[in-house]
Amino acid sequence: MLTSISDESLDSLLNQATHSAKMSYSPYSGFKVGAALLLRDGHIVTGTNVENASFGLTICATRSALVRAVSEFGPGIRIDAVAVANLNEAASPPCGACRQMLAEFAAPDAFVIFPAAAGMTTMRFDEILPLGFDMKLKSHTERG
Ligand code: THU
Repeated sequence: MLTSISDESLDSLLNQATHSAKMSYSPYSGFKVGAALLLRDGHIVTGTNVENASFGLTICATRSALVRAVSEFGPGIRIDAVAVANLNEAASPPCGACRQMLAEFAAPDAFVIFPAAAGMTTMRFDEILPLGFDMKLKSHTERG
């Protein structure tokens, strides 16, 4: 279980996500997204979306932060909070692919804070991805 994270820490995480959105490479959509991950050891890692002329190769802000976090701090990272922001005054909850990628490293009770249609929203990770694919599930391996 997570110890609770202060509103100030979540605010600061969101500010870092917004700062990262300013780095966005998004000439095709114009949608500038930033993400910030709070790791269990206190490190914060940010990322932004990087688009490509071959649209499908685009990487979202959250996955960009995630691969950076593993690259910098190794495969043992645990994520206790995720903030997503954009500069377009739009909703941007993390997409399904980003949620599935986060599932490898995020605590079930990690905080996820993002702009939703109704405004800034904070949810637990297991609320935004209730049935993610998990190769490590016991029932999965037991079935052979
Ligand atoms: N995008 C993100 O960075 N995160 C998401 O969760 C969904 C979408 C980016 C990808 C693309 O560069 C732009 O937003 C428009 O889809």
